[in-house]
Amino acid sequence: MKILGARVQGFRNLADAEYEFSSGVNVLQGDNGHGKTNLLEALNFVALGRSHRGARAEELIGHRAAHLHVCVTVQTAVNNVHVLEFGLDRDGGRRFRVDGEAVAHRADLIGQLATVFFWPQSNELVRGGPEHRRRFADQGLSSLDRDYLRALTAHQRALRQKTRLLKDLRHSGRVSGSARRELVAWNADLAQHAAAIGVGRACWAQGLAPHAAAVYVALTGTPAPLEFAYRPRLLALAALAAGPAEKNDLVEDILAEIDYIGPDEMRRGRPLTGPQFDDFDVRLGSLDLRAYGSQGETRTAAMSLVLAQSEVVFERRRVRPVLFLDDVFSELDRERARRLREWCGRDHQVFVATARADEVSDWHPQRIRRWRVEDGRLATLP
Ligand SMILES: Nc1ncnc2c1ncn2[C@@H]1O[C@H](COP(=O)(O)OP(=O)(O)O)[C@@H](O)[C@H]1O
Ligand SMILES: [Mg+2]
Repeated sequence: MKILGARVQGFRNLADAEYEFSSGVNVLQGDNGHGKTNLLEALNFVALGRSHRGARAEELIGHRAAHLHVCVTVQTAVNNVHVLEFGLDRDGGRRFRVDGEAVAHRADLIGQLATVFFWPQSNELVRGGPEHRRRFADQGLSSLDRDYLRALTAHQRALRQKTRLLKDLRHSGRVSGSARRELVAWNADLAQHAAAIGVGRACWAQGLAPHAAAVYVALTGTPAPLEFAYRPRLLALAALAAGPAEKNDLVEDILAEIDYIGPDEMRRGRPLTGPQFDDFDVRLGSLDLRAYGSQGETRTAAMSLVLAQSEVVFERRRVRPVLFLDDVFSELDRERARRLREWCGRDHQVFVATARADEVSDWHPQRIRRWRVEDGRLATLP
């Protein structure tokens, strides 16, 4: 998959402009604060339907612009070119278009362009709290599987409703018959969605793990066993690690677990179990990297997980996602940086942003294009 070009208007500090990219490696170099990450964010927005930095529309719209519009031309296969567009207004208006046709939902845009993003914050994948690993899983899975995205969204909605109800009940101190019925209904809903989320996460983690281990070896040159495994909160889902389960049995088991913890939930006034508490193990042999990883191990493990996701995308969809590497080379020693470039340059279109041009000056893959980024403007370098 390649991003052939883009037209950017009103996005952060970027000048309104149109670009043509190399289908190989695109290097964006320039001092910090000039707009390298902004451009990557604009391109990647199309893939996620949101900012990878979690920025809101009003942060993304240029200070002097009324709205923003980004149009990205993507080649998904030979002879298969699509135009993906989004527009955001200050008053919250959003527009998504695929090949000129308006699409109503973010979900219709997600997955059209497959990307994988690595930036310094990606290290949180290993050292940060479980929410970072859940987000990584959810983003990766949602781009591959619309049913997963639907289950996730429905689960979040039901969980909000149940939380509100439990809070009300705790305040009032009395549980009416209708409140009890409502709770039963939310639990039934939650159990259905939790089963779908659990099955999705378990399969995804099992598929990702061997790739992550292989990339770790490729980046370090040492056969260290990087392990990645799903650690769900629900016991019924933990059984999934042992082997596939019947969906119906799973829903029943989950419901029984939620029921069992019900009185506690009433007392505490909030849901106490479910996939919203899931985590994933990241280990190097017997070492739990989440707690004990050195900086080098953490970075390389996080990078391995992200690059492994690109292998999962290839396995499931037969397309190579576009790789975004933002400010990553400065964190690696020379040998790992060289191995990373080798790994990425082989099959993928790559966008690299760096403040230190010397880090990539000795990189000469087949098709490379260098850009200088200054004050939101890009100029091609020889
Ligand atoms: N909505 C906005 N409008 C105009 N400028 C913005 C907006 N949001 C961020 N910026 C500017 O973008 C610059 C940061 O760009 P960034 O892409 O993060 O830099 P870098 O090249 O270091 O990756 C800062 O100068 C910031 O002031
Ligand atoms: Mg940056």
